[in-house]
Amino acid sequence: MRIIKLDAINSTNSYLRELISKGNVEDFTVVSTKNQTKGRGQMGTVWESKTAKNLTFSVFKDVSRIETDQAFYISVVTALAIIKTLKELGIPKLSVKWPNDILSENKKICGVLIENVIKQSQLKASIIGIGLNVNQTEFENLTKASSLKSISGRVFVLDEVLVALVLNLEYYFGILETGDFKVLKKEYEVNLFRKNKPSTFKDAEGSMFSGFIKGTSPEGKLVVLLEDEIIKTFDLKEISLLY
Ligand code: BTN
Repeated sequence: MRIIKLDAINSTNSYLRELISKGNVEDFTVVSTKNQTKGRGQMGTVWESKTAKNLTFSVFKDVSRIETDQAFYISVVTALAIIKTLKELGIPKLSVKWPNDILSENKKICGVLIENVIKQSQLKASIIGIGLNVNQTEFENLTKASSLKSISGRVFVLDEVLVALVLNLEYYFGILETGDFKVLKKEYEVNLFRKNKPSTFKDAEGSMFSGFIKGTSPEGKLVVLLEDEIIKTFDLKEISLLY
């Protein structure tokens, strides 16, 4: 593990992508910053992280041995590594809100943006961007956000959390490279937020509907049981879980 620390950068994901394009980067090279000025979130959102109280970083992994149609497993192992780390730190009631928001109870404490480099239809590199709320306690109008400190009352040493998390990523990528997809999917689904609970969703047009999350499909879509026993799968652009 090599950690590159930057005082400020537009986006650690973008910086790492530049680094990869220039040549040799070792697996689990980490780029971390105290001040991310143009952080990106999922679906074109912005990820504010101008406070040095949180962890804002990206991890490189060579994924050329993973089939392109198994790319969802990069999300799976990332979510599992974060959950394992936070569990070890004593954070309660952890779950993964599909595809990879990490929650404690029903508050988001960690966001993940995975950007893959694909050449000639084959996965090459994965840039795993993680924003983890650690010691921040004020979230202004973000009513659904929280942090490790807000939840536990304890202050955490950022570097210790970072190293533990990257070691757990190494652990889960090890399992992924053995090809044990079944065990990973099972563990992911055990931790899936609102699985089998009555839930309300919004579709891409803004209409609400209800159903039960049943799990994820092999390609990583969300499987929902709708009324009249209809089962449908949705990708990220087609659905958002409201409650
Ligand atoms: C989300 O929940 O929408 C995903 C947020 C991901 C934010 C991280 S912070 C480090 C890395 N660099 C970025 O620009 N984004 C990710």
